[in-house]
Amino acid sequence: MATSVDLTEFQADILQGIPEKLPPRASFNPKVSHAPKRKDLLSLEEKKLAIRNALRYFPKKWHPELAGDFAEELKRYGRIYMYRFKPAYPMYARPIGEYPAKCRAAAAIMLMIQNNLDPAVAQHPEELITYGGNGSVFQNWAQYLLTMQYLAGMTEAQTLHLYSGHPMGLFPSDKNAPRVVVTNGMMIPNYSKPDDWERYNALGVTQYGQMTAGSYMYIGPQGIVHGTTITVMNAFRKVLEKGSKTEGKVFVTSGLGGMSGAQPKAGNIVGCITICAEINPAAAHKRHEQGWVDELIQDLDLLAKRTRKAIDNEETISLAYVGNVVDVWERFLEEELSIQLGSDQTSLHNPWAGGYYPAGLTYEEANSLMVANPDLFREKVQESLRRQVAAINKHASRGMYFFDYGNAFLLEASRAGAEVYAENGIDFRYPSYVQDILGPMCFDYGFGPFRWVCTSGKPEDLKTTDLLAQKVLESLYEKAPDEIAQQLQDNIKWIIEADENRLVVGSQARILYADAEGRIRIAEAFNKAIADGEISAPVVLGRDHHDVSGTDSPFRETSNIYDGSRYTADMAIHNVIGDSFRGATWVSIHNGGGVGWGEVINGGFGLLLDGSDKALNNLRNMLFFDVNNGISRRGWARNEEALFAIQREMKRTPGLEFTLPNLVEEETLEGLFTENPNFNAP
Ligand SMILES: NC(=O)c1ccc[n+]([C@@H]2O[C@H](COP(=O)([O-])OP(=O)(O)OC[C@H]3O[C@@H](n4cnc5c(N)ncnc54)[C@H](O)[C@@H]3O)[C@@H](O)[C@H]2O)c1
Repeated sequence: MATSVDLTEFQADILQGIPEKLPPRASFNPKVSHAPKRKDLLSLEEKKLAIRNALRYFPKKWHPELAGDFAEELKRYGRIYMYRFKPAYPMYARPIGEYPAKCRAAAAIMLMIQNNLDPAVAQHPEELITYGGNGSVFQNWAQYLLTMQYLAGMTEAQTLHLYSGHPMGLFPSDKNAPRVVVTNGMMIPNYSKPDDWERYNALGVTQYGQMTAGSYMYIGPQGIVHGTTITVMNAFRKVLEKGSKTEGKVFVTSGLGGMSGAQPKAGNIVGCITICAEINPAAAHKRHEQGWVDELIQDLDLLAKRTRKAIDNEETISLAYVGNVVDVWERFLEEELSIQLGSDQTSLHNPWAGGYYPAGLTYEEANSLMVANPDLFREKVQESLRRQVAAINKHASRGMYFFDYGNAFLLEASRAGAEVYAENGIDFRYPSYVQDILGPMCFDYGFGPFRWVCTSGKPEDLKTTDLLAQKVLESLYEKAPDEIAQQLQDNIKWIIEADENRLVVGSQARILYADAEGRIRIAEAFNKAIADGEISAPVVLGRDHHDVSGTDSPFRETSNIYDGSRYTADMAIHNVIGDSFRGATWVSIHNGGGVGWGEVINGGFGLLLDGSDKALNNLRNMLFFDVNNGISRRGWARNEEALFAIQREMKRTPGLEFTLPNLVEEETLEGLFTENPNFNAP
């Protein structure tokens, strides 16, 4: 670690925090993508309050100049990012030894923060947004500067508390406490509507942290590639007979954007024919140039021909159709092309402002109409959704398996009056990917997106960790019960191929799905390898919040909870509190993430492995709870797979006692009540 005698310019800048000299006003940087202008909801008094709040970070002598500057930012962008305080040094995850810090945990957290803000990784780096349009690491550059300065000065007897990006300060704590506690967007429940985010974020008092943006755990597109691979692979298992090949089988979907762009790459890893429609030519070309989709096709006739050839030749191939997905669904019906899997990943969480492009309009026409005539645009979107669902229903009647991939497709289609309801008029006729796939096949057994980052920044360390993880999974596979053998096998294949799939963007990171035992055994192997010098520097462990225990989200992560508790958020809160005193290096809890502000509570952690006995104790204690908390909740909700997993765990873990549910016979409930005339489906 750097000493005070020989500081680099970067280290000196970090230690300085808010600079002593007022930096010049920043000019607009056209080389990076910028966040869109946000809604202007503040009253005149609130605008003044926003400026007053922003000026809290700076000495009084600068206030007159900065007040004007920040007012200009608020008018122009709807937010105050404090562009002029963006540091001049390049932003990327440096090797851990380059950070000025008094403890390794703090240096590791600085590395993770810088990775989330790296222009090669982040979506809108100058607005401190990592992904998802509004997933912020900090609200403004002053918060970044102060946080890095606090981390540089922090000892193992202090904890830094961050309120939605704002570093409240260092508080005395204990060497066993987390070094950082993060909350993002935690609101009084009645103030958690989308416009509340617009208002309070503009005031500078809250932020949307997404899942891994405001918790410093984003690892680029690798995470979504893995999740999509697991989902598509298991979806095929639901439709194909055991042992049949995926080659030559067709998966139709849409979207080649930020997350949806992972679909063709995942389809290729699974080994099927992926047809992915993308209306925006720029997005389609970008993914093609990056090698994430094999062929671009502009014409429906050609698409139909090429698809038929791929089916006949039993190919593994991904085809991007540059156009509207509704046209593909309808054309494939006419052509009687057989589709095995269907989904959709347009941004339907944001249907009226460019998330979904209606059929019958070009990309440019739609962009003009949504501004010129929002009501007509809305009608066109809803009509298009009705057409899309009608075609999907016909394909489904011919044997296609359709699933909602967490983009609010079924929800918006239902609001548009499309025929998406099941016979009971309450449920959707198609499942969400968590209800049918990730929930019962992965989360309920404890399998979830475990990830790690090698803080040396060396690819060879990542290779060593890949090999160690592979060995652990293989040894678990040898003795695995049938229920989890498949999941282990899938992840063994994934980790063997991970290096050649060239998934690293930014820090040297890896993801795989493992259960509690797998995560603990892998972490133990890493800790030992660090102690033995086989891995040259500490490793940070973490996970996506989209996991077994971290997230309460009724239409996604916890959509397969059927005891009514899916609208509660106790699990995520217990998780973050439980992890915090069991050894996490940092913990985070967020409102929003994936499905939207007010719709989900999600939490996560970071845990530093440095080869020490303390790290060994922490990883065993914390990872065990981090997974089994969620399994127990899923088991109490009577999920069969989770009941299997938690009872298996109780047999091998002394001290674990779980309240087993008693299952009620259906006939016991019959005839107890008559229909309630006041009943309204939620
Ligand atoms: N299941 C998960 O784990 C998961 C993960 C991430 C994102 N999501 C959800 O998936 C959705 C997509 O995320 P993203 O980051 O890729 O968003 P994005 O906006 O970057 O990409 C969506 C793409 O769909 C295209 N599109 C829209 N309407 C179309 C149409 N009718 N035909 C063809 N193309 C069309 C858009 O041009 C855009 O490029 C979001 O709603 C997001 O919340 C789910």
